[in-house]
Amino acid sequence: MTTPDPSLIRSSFAAVQPHGPQLTAYFYDHLFTHNPGVRPLFAAHLDEQRDRLWAALGALVANLENTETLVGMLQNLGRRHVGYGALAEHYPAVGGSLIAALRHYAGDAWTPAVEESWTAVYGVISDTMIAAGEAAAR
Ligand code: HEM
Repeated sequence: MTTPDPSLIRSSFAAVQPHGPQLTAYFYDHLFTHNPGVRPLFAAHLDEQRDRLWAALGALVANLENTETLVGMLQNLGRRHVGYGALAEHYPAVGGSLIAALRHYAGDAWTPAVEESWTAVYGVISDTMIAAGEAAAR
């Protein structure tokens, strides 16, 4: 796997900052269109959920290089996701929709190297969340 480049993650995330509400709406539309099976896991109204997802992404990006804080946040998030019914096989679908939404709003800030970095970062995020969830479920 490529090593994510934190500066590319930060610059592309800065480029989508003005579009938070649209980006998260696009993300959920994309996710539920391509994976209708996960829709029932979520509440009917997504307004609050969109804000929480956006806040969590901001916190993750802000702490990319604070490994201890980052891992702690991801482990807590992963443990909570067991309770939401999130399964390991859902993570690639969520990652695909997240990257599609970022790509859609990043404009010229999106390059193949940026996409590789987000793919790598999402791999680390999901591996950490899944491992913490599995450990908690045992
Ligand atoms: C990068 C990966 C992910 C991030 C950053 C993320 C972030 C969040 C956040 C911040 C919340 C709000 C509640 C909380 O903080 O505990 C949440 C809730 C939730 N997430 Fe995720 N999530 C991710 C992956 C997934 C995956 C793979 C699924 C599986 C389908 C999923 C399904 C849910 C559900 C069902 C809820 C509760 C929604 C509700 O109450 O209606 N998430 N997520």
